[in-house]
Amino acid sequence: MQKTIWRLSVTQLLLTILLVLAVTAIGRVFSFDIVNVALCYILPVLISAVLWGRAFSLFAAVLSVLIFDFFFVPPAFGFRPDDPRDFVILAIFLIVAVVTGTIATRLRNERERLRALASRLESIREEERSRIAREIHDELGQALTGLKIDLLRLSRRLTKDQEGLVGEIHAMGKLIDNEIQIIRKISSELRPGILDDLGLVSTIEWHLEDFKKRTEIQAEFVTTLEDRNLNRDLSTALFRILQETLTNVIRHAQATYVKVSIKEDAGDIVLTVEDNGKGIPDRAAFDPKALGLLGIRERALIYGGELQVTGSKGRGTKIAVKIPLREAQKHHA
Ligand SMILES: Nc1ncnc2c1ncn2[C@@H]1O[C@H](COP(=O)(O)OP(=O)(O)O)[C@@H](O)[C@H]1O
Ligand SMILES: [Mg+2]
Repeated sequence: MQKTIWRLSVTQLLLTILLVLAVTAIGRVFSFDIVNVALCYILPVLISAVLWGRAFSLFAAVLSVLIFDFFFVPPAFGFRPDDPRDFVILAIFLIVAVVTGTIATRLRNERERLRALASRLESIREEERSRIAREIHDELGQALTGLKIDLLRLSRRLTKDQEGLVGEIHAMGKLIDNEIQIIRKISSELRPGILDDLGLVSTIEWHLEDFKKRTEIQAEFVTTLEDRNLNRDLSTALFRILQETLTNVIRHAQATYVKVSIKEDAGDIVLTVEDNGKGIPDRAAFDPKALGLLGIRERALIYGGELQVTGSKGRGTKIAVKIPLREAQKHHA
């Protein structure tokens, strides 16, 4: 772990240096004047602030001011400006660079905080669902089963002249069975217990069977994945993503066929859902108000993954979520 962080920082440092050198090269090749060059040097500061945070933006600012001084502030190729006004320019540049870098870093941190909050809320919601599902299933389920047993006992104690009640007791038993079924359904909709017991692949199979029954849309499932590869959080995230995409197929696609595939590909886990419906319009795919798709994208992002949406009019929609397996397992191990 330590080692990865170190390697990451070195890469980012090198990239920062590269950015600063690129600006220097452009400034020299096009012989920019001192003010324009100063403006251009803000760019590496901004980019490193947004991508990698405060330390790198400060590094970029200091490096920029040194190189800026060396190459562009007369005398060229020296660190001692001969005009005091050049000192002022350098000082102003440094201040502007640090302030811009700080603002950009703040924005970046704010975004990361929001993302972390969303992810935390999501996992709380998932825990809550599990708990409610368990309670409904265990408490209510057991109470009803108890009631049924009592009813049976009661029916055995009926005397000859009470036989008219048998039919009624039977009907009550039926009603209780029905309720038990409903409770099972509600609790498995809240959180499919099968996800914890048998894993993602079996859960998808089960969900698709149910989907076919409910919708009359043909569904096919292809997988090369072995369940033991995935931890609970990642399985849950992928299952929720699948639920949302299938809901979209029902609600928007007007499809007759959907193909779900989940595979391991070059260290990534790739979930795709393809339908043969009307095709998602580009503007819908990138609409900031499309909360379902946004949720999918954010879920993938938590695990360092990404979402791809492609649609062609009249020929269907393909949703692909790619998550780097090793990162994901590390993330929530
Ligand atoms: N499989 C699909 N086929 C066609 N259009 C789709 C499909 N999935 C999503 N869309 C379009 O993308 C929009 C955004 O989807 P989503 O973010 O899930 O929001 P919502 O389902 O709440 O409308 C939908 O309103 C719909 O127009
Ligand atoms: Mg939706």
